[in-house]
Amino acid sequence: MGCAISGLAETADLGEKSTRDAGGRGGEAHPSQDQIDMIKESWKVIRDDIAKVGIIVFVRLFETHPECKDVFFLFRDVKDLERLRTSRELRAHGLRVMSFIEKSVARLDQLERLEALAEELGKSHYHYNAPPQYYSYVGAEFISAVQPILKDRWTAELEEAWKTMFQYVTRLMKKGYADEDRENQAAASPKERGHKRNTAL
Ligand code: HEM
Repeated sequence: MGCAISGLAETADLGEKSTRDAGGRGGEAHPSQDQIDMIKESWKVIRDDIAKVGIIVFVRLFETHPECKDVFFLFRDVKDLERLRTSRELRAHGLRVMSFIEKSVARLDQLERLEALAEELGKSHYHYNAPPQYYSYVGAEFISAVQPILKDRWTAELEEAWKTMFQYVTRLMKKGYADEDRENQAAASPKERGHKRNTAL
């Protein structure tokens, strides 16, 4: 993928510090307690700039993966990505995504609730026609965007912690997407199969 931070893809090495088990219903690898503490501490700094981070993440996502832009009705015909930096709609969208990250950070101590939330988000992305292979790009762009904000507070361990959290959330989103796909395929008549409701922007 064409972004600065690689290794967020499904096959990435999660590092030794992530934990597989436990509180989560699906037994997915999730951030360890040390990683959770690091994420929460850094979020206190990132939080002040979430509108800016949301815009940077999506403009960069559209630059590095133009195919993602096609998923958004409002943005698919925009040729000059610089114009998007001042778009109210992109700001609002970025803020919706960042609020989800905020909720996720708050729920790292209640993994069952976080899992339900992320799976539900995956289900809604099925209806937005946003395919799972794109989800990991968002974490990579988030990491690129927050690094300069945290300056010398950014460390390799913190990067690993955020990667682990995004891998965890996006795996759950993918699961939600797949469940919704299965349910819709099962419910639809053969003629209707493959036609999704599109509620995207
Ligand atoms: C970590 C990955 C992602 C997260 C956490 C995320 C989060 C969200 C959230 C919180 C919303 C608001 C609506 C809702 O709660 O259902 C949303 C909407 C949407 N997302 Fe995502 N998203 C991710 C990746 C993507 C990708 C990669 C695409 C497209 C390629 C995409 C396309 C959309 C669209 C079209 C909408 C509907 C428009 C809107 O509500 O602004 N998402 N996303």
